[in-house]
Amino acid sequence: MQVISAQFITSNTDYLKCPPDKYPEFAFIGRSNVGKSSLINSITFHKKLAKTSQTPGKTQLINHFLINDNWYLVDLPGYGYAQVSKEKRKEFEKMILDYLINRKSLTCLFLLVDLRLKPQPVDIAFMERMAEEQIPFYIVFTKADKLSQKQVDDNFKHYQEFLLQSWEALPKMFITSAEKHQGREEILASIQELIDS
Ligand code: GTP
Ligand code: MG
Repeated sequence: MQVISAQFITSNTDYLKCPPDKYPEFAFIGRSNVGKSSLINSITFHKKLAKTSQTPGKTQLINHFLINDNWYLVDLPGYGYAQVSKEKRKEFEKMILDYLINRKSLTCLFLLVDLRLKPQPVDIAFMERMAEEQIPFYIVFTKADKLSQKQVDDNFKHYQEFLLQSWEALPKMFITSAEKHQGREEILASIQELIDS
């Protein structure tokens, strides 16, 4: 898929105030600082569409971007960010879950995990919650450029083996680097496939 246009539409704290749900929608979620906003910029070929930062907790709202005038890409706040108060974290989690559970046009969630780390309990718990809620998701490994090819292969294999200890099947997975634009074509192709199906 070619990205011809990418346009910021709205930022919200409430799913009810999101734009009318008349287009298929694809949202990016994951721990704070995992690289959600950076990957959105890589995928849309826009350096500054979604705001990124070295400091975790940058994205605090539900951000809608309209792509090619026919689908939405959504940048969400990260979960599991320890530096904010417990109340604030709960508030964020509620906002994200309300959006994910209630947004009818949400076609698929891209759940980002840092390929450098072993499977993290907070990510696994989030995946299990999505499965319980029957929200379809793909797993996107980020920051592959920070690893050697051998580390990429080993960590990817280890993650799959870990999930298969308790899961019967694996979701679609992508290895990406926003820095090197790795995985961009594959993610866009999978979005196109879902739009067409
Ligand atoms: P929150 O909005 O705070 O939840 O974070 P986020 O998940 O949107 O992360 P963001 O895209 O802001 O990136 C966090 C940091 O990681 C920034 O310093 C990025 O430059 C860096 N980063 C993101 N993706 C990559 C990548 O693929 N490779 C490398 N080397 N750095 C990356
Ligand atoms: Mg962000």
